[in-house]
Amino acid sequence: MKAEQSSGGAGPREKIIILDFGGPEGMLVARRVREAQVYCELLPFNTSWAEIRRHQPRGIILAGGPGRGGAGAGPRCDPQLFKAQVPLLGIGYGMQLLALERGGEVEPDRLLKEGGGPLKIEEPEPLFQEQEGAAPDGFSGAGWRGLVKRVPPGFKVLARTEEGAVAAMGHPRDRLYGIAFNPAFPESRGGMHLLKRFLYDVCGCSADWTPRRFIDAAVEQIRQTVGPAERVVCGLSGGIDSSVVACLLDQAIGERCVSIFVDHGLLRKGEGEEVSRFFRERLRGPFIAVDARKRFLERLKGVTDPEAKRKIIGTEFINVFEEEARKLGEIAYLAQGTIYPDVIESGVGPGGTVIKSHHNVGGLPEKLGFKLIEPLRELFKDEVRLVARELGLPDRITNRQPFPGPGLGVRIIGEITAERLELVREADAILREEVEQAGLAGDLWQFFAVLIGVNAVGVKEERRHYGPVICLRAVTSTDAMTAAWARLPYDLLDRVSRRITGEIPGISRVVYDITAKPPGTIEWE
Ligand code: XMP
Repeated sequence: MKAEQSSGGAGPREKIIILDFGGPEGMLVARRVREAQVYCELLPFNTSWAEIRRHQPRGIILAGGPGRGGAGAGPRCDPQLFKAQVPLLGIGYGMQLLALERGGEVEPDRLLKEGGGPLKIEEPEPLFQEQEGAAPDGFSGAGWRGLVKRVPPGFKVLARTEEGAVAAMGHPRDRLYGIAFNPAFPESRGGMHLLKRFLYDVCGCSADWTPRRFIDAAVEQIRQTVGPAERVVCGLSGGIDSSVVACLLDQAIGERCVSIFVDHGLLRKGEGEEVSRFFRERLRGPFIAVDARKRFLERLKGVTDPEAKRKIIGTEFINVFEEEARKLGEIAYLAQGTIYPDVIESGVGPGGTVIKSHHNVGGLPEKLGFKLIEPLRELFKDEVRLVARELGLPDRITNRQPFPGPGLGVRIIGEITAERLELVREADAILREEVEQAGLAGDLWQFFAVLIGVNAVGVKEERRHYGPVICLRAVTSTDAMTAAWARLPYDLLDRVSRRITGEIPGISRVVYDITAKPPGTIEWE
């Protein structure tokens, strides 16, 4: 079964369509639009107007673009868009397209400028219009692309750069606008204000995308999807996505949702017990905790290759889940915590082809004949967090640091054994405790310990000791695509190191990883 056939998303009324011409910019714009509490979806640049119209968009944004070259030779969208009488905002490359389609002149390869620089506003209405209580401290742009040499007939220049180049143009009657920089870039001063003016004043959106409304709509949709006698099984990992899914299902169908938590033994200290305790109390439906710790260790015996470990852990997880689900009798749906970045179909590859990146649903629905229900399909990660808070989930779930599916299994270089698991789990617990006590957890993306499979000489109790080395890794990041190693205070590192070598028998030495991503990755395997 394909993920597209699944249901459970909560369809709001007001929607903006963002056509993605490539690069990370489209996603960035989408996140900003959602921050403005307007629902939006990203679609590939070549989606036909007929298809876009089915979404009944309040407005269309053209975002992103090819790495080199401009609108003359690059990817184009359906020209119908420019005549559709729907508000349109072309950003960067999108502004060039708009200019070309409407008879303007562009110099696509000319980069206006690298950095910001204040804008000279010629026509505040409507994009640069200051609002009471929402007046930005001036405007500047970043992420410039190309140059519109002559604006198309009927268009006005709304803003210029200090050098006099067109920074924004508009055709108020046709509600078509173009800006040469990207207002979603954090360096674009007043960018969010500008986007909001387009969304609220030009498109007439009312900021109706809030966590509360999402929850109400999602619960309603689950009730409509799942028949009155049907049951749903939900895989709970204790991570934020699956926790939110379980709570939405609980609100919608109560005891007809069965949650299964597989303890594969690769969790952090105390996590299995904590997840079990919390959800057993919170959920009205059955909560099944499967202790599969031994079974995973047996399967992983002697395996050292990282990808082989991942594969075994993934397959075994499905096997355990499947066995448990079969015991439940007739089950119609499997609920999954798939989120928007997993399902997005967008982006432009070399030669203008559309890249399709699809979530791997792990083979479960095919194997068991489940239909899929994915209530979070429309949410970005930060939105899931907001929904979790609105649902009243505790901080330790809403603020939980990302934890990979294979768990501690990919934080032990070499073979995974019960003893080695214990070492890394204890070291990780000490690091977590100290970072939390220092009040730094909220500043970090991830922080953890790795058993790097190297031994070193040390002195313990006045005797020579040869034992394993623990490596600490702490990074800051916004999306895990890039990361910086965290500049943790020396005295914190010192405390952690003393505690690990002092409290965990065998550990000879503690080192700190100072590699950024790239060139490193966040995890060691
Ligand atoms: P890397 O190590 O590639 O990690 O920089 C980026 C983010 O992905 C997480 N990660 C995984 N998550 N299964 C997962 O569910 C995996 O096999 C896996 N490997 C890495 C990692 O923790 C980081 O947040």
